[in-house]
Amino acid sequence: MQSASPIKACSPEDLDSLYQRLQTVITPAEWARFAPDIAAINALKKERRAVILAHNYMTPEIYHGVADVVGDSLALARKAALIEADVIVVAGVHFMAETAKLLNPDRTVLIPDPTAGCSLADSITPEDVRALRAKHPGVPIVTYVNTSAAVKAECDICCTSGNAKQIVESLGVPEVIMVPDGFLAQNVARQTDVKLIIWHGHCEVHERFSPQILAGYRAAHPGLSIVAHPECPPDVVQASDFAGSTVGMSDWVVQHHPEKVMLLTELSMSDNVAVDHPEITFVRPSVPCPHMKKITLASIRRALETNTHQVEISQALIAPARRAVERMIAVG
Ligand code: 13P
Ligand code: SF4
Repeated sequence: MQSASPIKACSPEDLDSLYQRLQTVITPAEWARFAPDIAAINALKKERRAVILAHNYMTPEIYHGVADVVGDSLALARKAALIEADVIVVAGVHFMAETAKLLNPDRTVLIPDPTAGCSLADSITPEDVRALRAKHPGVPIVTYVNTSAAVKAECDICCTSGNAKQIVESLGVPEVIMVPDGFLAQNVARQTDVKLIIWHGHCEVHERFSPQILAGYRAAHPGLSIVAHPECPPDVVQASDFAGSTVGMSDWVVQHHPEKVMLLTELSMSDNVAVDHPEITFVRPSVPCPHMKKITLASIRRALETNTHQVEISQALIAPARRAVERMIAVG
């Protein structure tokens, strides 16, 4: 599992040594804009007893400059369950902030931009889940963590890209409903004997990759290793050298140390891994997640200065949605 940068820069000396690490992915002109915000955010965190949980898709100045905990959705949920700070800032999309709030209902949880959504979370409603349950009575429902708290509250257990097969099999039944990511479910179905009833949601970033695009990159970069996220279509996963969660992808790079690699996922992932591996050539797919990219240093600073935007979840949803997340965490 990754850990955040040990440097939490506030002083000019700290900022200088941080930039030494980041200069391969951040230009001097960008750094001149970022450095004052990084110093201010790190000072505000101390003042407010705040921690920043940052997803792997955050830009490098956030990921390496101000985050206290970095990781995939599973790591962030696990860490959120153990936090003791007064304020939790989630540098990620809305469902991630809701997950942190579910696990910390009495703490202040802030999301720098509440409009940072997710095409998967938008693809299914609580009514859809109730209709599936009515159509398949007695079949347990696994929900990808990329869903609203209202959808989680209707489901039996959550999963992430890092544990989906394990969660499906932990239920010990022959048939499971898996929502909302159709591609993730198809990729899991290829690895398990459990029959999956699948929903049709897609990630607007990962659905853009195709075997033809991969073939083009392989032709242009002989010897290229390709690592895919399981939200990619199954034919893309099959044409890749490995598929795993965002943490799984970076762990694969660290373990296999390829000369040239392409991470088939949101573009900031490559920058964040490349900072610690200047000897590896990263061929970048230029696909940003428009929702993740709404989180910036400026919006994080504003969140800490103004104590906004506070994540609230209705009392009626907290217990059932939290149960689905905690059941997942308990699977290990
Ligand atoms: P991970 O849990 O693998 O980090 O994925 C979250 C996500 O939103 C991928 O698009
Ligand atoms: Fe959602 Fe896809 Fe963005 Fe991840 S990359 S937050 S799944 S839209």
